[in-house]
Amino acid sequence: HGTSKVNDKGHLEIGGVDTVKLAEQYGTPLYVYDVSLIRERARGFKKAFDDSGVKAQVAYASKAFSTIAMVQLAEDEGLSLDVVSGGELYTAIAAEFPAERIHFHGNNKSKEELEMALQHEIGCIVVDNFYELELIQSICETINKTMKVLLRVTPGVEAHTHDYITTGQEDSKFGFNLQNGQAEKALLQALEFNRIELLGLHCHIGSQIFETTGFIVAAQKIFDKLNEWKNTFAFESKVLNLGGGFGIRYTNDDHPLQAAQYVSEIIAEVQKQVEKYEMQMPEIWIEPGRSLVGDAGTTLYKIGSRKEIPNIRKYVAIDGGMSDNIRPALYQAKYEAVIANKVLAETEETVSIAGKCCESGDMLIWDIPLPKSNSGDLLAVFCTGAYGYAMANNYNRIPRPPVVFIENGEAKLVVRRETYEDLIQMDLSIKAKINN
Ligand code: LLP
Repeated sequence: HGTSKVNDKGHLEIGGVDTVKLAEQYGTPLYVYDVSLIRERARGFKKAFDDSGVKAQVAYASKAFSTIAMVQLAEDEGLSLDVVSGGELYTAIAAEFPAERIHFHGNNKSKEELEMALQHEIGCIVVDNFYELELIQSICETINKTMKVLLRVTPGVEAHTHDYITTGQEDSKFGFNLQNGQAEKALLQALEFNRIELLGLHCHIGSQIFETTGFIVAAQKIFDKLNEWKNTFAFESKVLNLGGGFGIRYTNDDHPLQAAQYVSEIIAEVQKQVEKYEMQMPEIWIEPGRSLVGDAGTTLYKIGSRKEIPNIRKYVAIDGGMSDNIRPALYQAKYEAVIANKVLAETEETVSIAGKCCESGDMLIWDIPLPKSNSGDLLAVFCTGAYGYAMANNYNRIPRPPVVFIENGEAKLVVRRETYEDLIQMDLSIKAKINN
């Protein structure tokens, strides 16, 4: 997986650093990121556009993993940044990310969030609904500003993915419906609002997608509509944002394409449509999240207890679980793992990896063949870089693990471990004596 290797002690190494040492130094559970892999993924997307000569922006969907260090890394790689909440925007601003490259998403942005975005003069707001369109116009009037926007449309494409994370189909809470006249109404309103500068359209058809068909069909539907709008309203889209959703390989069952292939096929289709309808080539923007950070992340756990039910199952428990990775419980997501302190030991048994939360559904991996493990051994679960830390929670009052970045053979702590004190820091006592 990624740049992980096995060293001569039989230990798993990430970016040249022994994971056994990392676990000793930082404790477990621990999120470990291979920075070189994130850079490689970012460059893969950027190069694909550069090679084509098409004007583009690759915006990192920071919901996948938003921290100051990650935002700084995105800036370093010349990416733009997609944020979906005041909190992600705040993180971006705290990391001094260039505001003009921030894009703001979300289906229910509050007045305060929009004011924050306008005050910081971010690059663009992806408008999701009529309420938001009016809110932006009115805030802009009050503070005497204008804002660049994209309209998010739902082209009615269902990407081949898990139900929970399909967002491009018509029956969705996101965006303006392209087919029933809603998007057209939004277009006319955006054109009429003098504080709004309409750059173009946005769509996002889903996540963990392995083919380009969904993107291509979405582009076709959007261009059919753009052609109508060109003829009727003389509107041309300067920007077409096709969202994120590029898949990664969690297990052998996953067969994602290379960034270059996703991008070149998308560009080819857009060029075809542009020619067909005699339009100007728009800038193409994309928003990869998972595919930039997913396989760069590995979680290290310490193995603790074991329960064997003869002829049925062996449960091996680790010191984390759905509090640091909710994806198996929420989406039946599958992962691969090794015993990091004896990667090369012979596979001896099939076990199921249990989390430590008080909930039967807190299982990380079912039925994985592994070498015989003992308490104290280290389990490394691969491809946890996207929506792992980002969706971590304090269920059972379990503190969230720290995050370590590895680059050039060196480890750097970029998020410290949560403490028990952190956990109660927002709590207020109802007893007068204890004064907080
Ligand atoms: N753009 C928009 C508008 C999105 O809604 C999303 C993800 C992305 C970009 C980035 O998608 P990606 O490239 O990461 O697939 N928590 C789920 C994934 C939810 C994705 C939500 N939207 C999971 O853990 O699989």
